[in-house]
Amino acid sequence: MSTNGDDTNDMVNHDKENHSRGRLSTLRRLLGYLTRYKLRFTLIVLTMFGYSLMLTIIPAFLGEATNIITKGPGPLSPLQNTIYMLIIAIIFLWVFGYTSQRLLADIAQKALYNLRTELFSQIQKFSLSFFDQRPIGQLMSRVTNDLDVVDQFFSVGVMQLIQSIFTVVLATIIMLYLNVGLTILTYLTILGMMALSGILSRISGPAFEHLQEQMAELNGFAEEHISGQKTVIAYRQQESTASLFDKLSQKVNLTGQKAQFAALVNQPAALVFANLQIIVLLLVGGYLIIEGQVVLGELIAFIGFASELSAPLTQIFSTYSQIISATVGANRVFQIMDGKPEIVDREAAPPMPIIEGEVDFLNVDFSYVPGRKILKNNTFSAQPGETIGLCGPTGAGKSTIINILTRYYDLDSGEIRVDEERIDEIQQDTLRIQIAQVLQEPFLFSDTIMNNLRYAREGASDEDCIRAAKQANAHNFIIMQPQGYDTILQDGGADLSQGQRQMLTIARAMVAEPRMLILDEATSNVDTRTEKLIQEGLLKLQEGKTSFIIAHRLSTIQDADQILVIDKGEIIERGSHEELMKMNGFYHELFMSQFRGKISEGNV
Ligand SMILES: Nc1ncnc2c1ncn2[C@@H]1O[C@H](COP(=O)(O)OP(=O)(O)O)[C@@H](O)[C@H]1O
Ligand SMILES: [Mg+2]
Repeated sequence: MSTNGDDTNDMVNHDKENHSRGRLSTLRRLLGYLTRYKLRFTLIVLTMFGYSLMLTIIPAFLGEATNIITKGPGPLSPLQNTIYMLIIAIIFLWVFGYTSQRLLADIAQKALYNLRTELFSQIQKFSLSFFDQRPIGQLMSRVTNDLDVVDQFFSVGVMQLIQSIFTVVLATIIMLYLNVGLTILTYLTILGMMALSGILSRISGPAFEHLQEQMAELNGFAEEHISGQKTVIAYRQQESTASLFDKLSQKVNLTGQKAQFAALVNQPAALVFANLQIIVLLLVGGYLIIEGQVVLGELIAFIGFASELSAPLTQIFSTYSQIISATVGANRVFQIMDGKPEIVDREAAPPMPIIEGEVDFLNVDFSYVPGRKILKNNTFSAQPGETIGLCGPTGAGKSTIINILTRYYDLDSGEIRVDEERIDEIQQDTLRIQIAQVLQEPFLFSDTIMNNLRYAREGASDEDCIRAAKQANAHNFIIMQPQGYDTILQDGGADLSQGQRQMLTIARAMVAEPRMLILDEATSNVDTRTEKLIQEGLLKLQEGKTSFIIAHRLSTIQDADQILVIDKGEIIERGSHEELMKMNGFYHELFMSQFRGKISEGNV
């Protein structure tokens, strides 16, 4: 995965390169999902072959019957036999057709299931930086639109393609066997058709690619503005949002029309051609019959072949745009699946032992994007059980400090140690699972309250969850909910207050039984009374554990063992509240301004 530059464009450019280069290999890889089911796939191919064989044998029998009839009076049995053969061929045609459809439907769904789960689990594996670089809407479109197109390809496209190819090949062999001259004639007209369709697909191909790109953009926009509806309404941007959407939508509309038109033109054109073909055959064939070079049965057979060939050929052309769509979609899906998580464990990295709580930052430098240093030369240490307060202006780098402590990102230089272990030398999961984080924006799933609490630790019992909720002061309001702990949170808890949601995330952190605790402005968005309630709960959670508390209100961290004042990525002051106040510096200034603010609000 690339880490720099404008990522949206980056991705699109990648796509363009890839499908001019590797469309075939993408196709092969996509087919791999079907061929994984070897036995069934082989059966499908065999039954398809049988189907095509029956399909091409039928005109041959028709020609044979015509020949027998045109011979005039004679025994009846040869005609009867030919007709029996015809009936048998038709029965087998149905049996083969049915069997291959059934089998394909089965493995197509399995293949899609595999692809979908692989994609989703791969997305789960990525480091946080992966998500920084990609708009959520774009990712969503990968998981939905792109997989839909692939689904179409699996369940319809492949079938049509293989079937058509078989039919064309078999028919050609039988035709060559019957009459080389007529075969050449038939194919000359077919070549004309190929040329025409080549021109048409050149028009429709790019249109389809653009359509998918623009759809992704449109979906991203819709997703963002619907989830941000409150903000849209608050700033009365409904109209301009609608008109922006309209613009994007029109673009999609136009491209869609172009793509559809090109695809639609393909079909009637091919049909017209198929009919022209028959006329040419009648004319030339009729002439050859009169000349005595061809018998009527052969001509009848060839007219049958011609019309049976035109269907699969039309099919091949119309599958073309589908194959393009599928490879474009699959390419994007594979691109994600091939991405490497940026934060990887060193080989044979040992697990993090149970954390005692000593934390050391040593000359830590860090940047999210190369060239823009966010943290400069950070050095500090925390003893087990200590509470470390972090404060400073917005954008100073406070959240960044905890992002790298949990190893969401790797450092530029310097080192971070927990209990003397370098955190980049141990298994990241075993570190993270011991650290609970409560963030400013509580995130809850649209599931029951109980399941949201249990999310922190697999196997936590109901009692564990309820105990945690009680400690976090959340129990009282939970039992007031319609179904108590079984209440399903709508839309991630939109029907709870911010404070209530925050109490739930704190309870969830308690269920995890963490060894270390991080609170990133956890109480910034709640009123002071709720903050008191939350803090009571937090005190219990903090007992004996090293805690990092980022606070906007300095009163929140006043009792911390050590306060770090961060400004522009540097620790500019450090010490206890009293020590910092005595310094008369940045902290003192900040504290006094908040204190004055409180007095004027009258709520000291
Ligand atoms: N994921 C990210 N990618 C790039 N830059 C980021 C990212 N997150 C934060 N930043 C930048 O890092 C700086 C520090 O951010 P942050 O640590 O969130 O500040 P604080 O928590 O102190 O308000 C800001 O300038 C911000 O723009
Ligand atoms: Mg922050």
